[in-house]
Amino acid sequence: MKATVNTFTRHKSEGHKFACLTSYGYCEAVAATQAGVELLLVGDSLGMVVQGHDSSLPVTIEDVAYHVRCVRRGNNGALLMADLPFMSYYTENATLKNAALLMREGAQIVKLEGGAWLAESTRLLVERGVPVCAHMGLTPQSVNHLGGYRVQGRDPVKAKTMIAEAKLLEDAGASFILLECVPTSLGKAITESLSIPVIGIGAGPHTDGQIMVLHDLLGLYPGKPAKFVKNFLFENADIQSAISAFVTAVHNQEFPAEEHCYG
Ligand code: KIV
Repeated sequence: MKATVNTFTRHKSEGHKFACLTSYGYCEAVAATQAGVELLLVGDSLGMVVQGHDSSLPVTIEDVAYHVRCVRRGNNGALLMADLPFMSYYTENATLKNAALLMREGAQIVKLEGGAWLAESTRLLVERGVPVCAHMGLTPQSVNHLGGYRVQGRDPVKAKTMIAEAKLLEDAGASFILLECVPTSLGKAITESLSIPVIGIGAGPHTDGQIMVLHDLLGLYPGKPAKFVKNFLFENADIQSAISAFVTAVHNQEFPAEEHCYG
């Protein structure tokens, strides 16, 4: 069965926790969908894990389009989400043109990073038939402004603002919020205050879905992993079983565990 944005609203209302994974190529998409991954993201993390840059900033719209084409051929039923990369949605024209490019290549929804200021772009895209996921919390395209990859929303005033901005984006028509690196309590508050599904990465166990970067799941990315990362290949014999173990752990609410969360 092919997943659509409605599938995930249903999952939320039925309390089914869903598993999402980044994917950049054909074989990865085959393995992920065979393992039961419900949403594939062609993330601009490809700048780091595929291209070897130290951030996602150098990724271009052509790079994302290329990887969408690769993943699309291997996808068997998951919802295919693609990132609009850094500075590809800085004007109305750029937003529409670049979202159209990714949708024509096979993306079914686009993801943009930001808060309240995304409401207009969200409305613009949704009115023209392009579903939107708004990425909040730690937004890696703003790493230079944020001063590093840090937990966001620890300050109660900032947490309150984030809850209000998530609601604003839901009202503007977003189909998902993706929350990265926020305290568990904030992940829970945002998830409970919205009727659209919330996908978490380092946002605690209460979000409706969980996403991981494939290379983190496989322990492939060099350097010290973030707190929210679990290497599923460590306990499994091969890539296919590692991805299946991740999916099962999300479905059974065993991942993320306490040690992967921010207090
Ligand atoms: O680009 C990406 O892989 C992402 C994940 C961190 C969710 O946005």
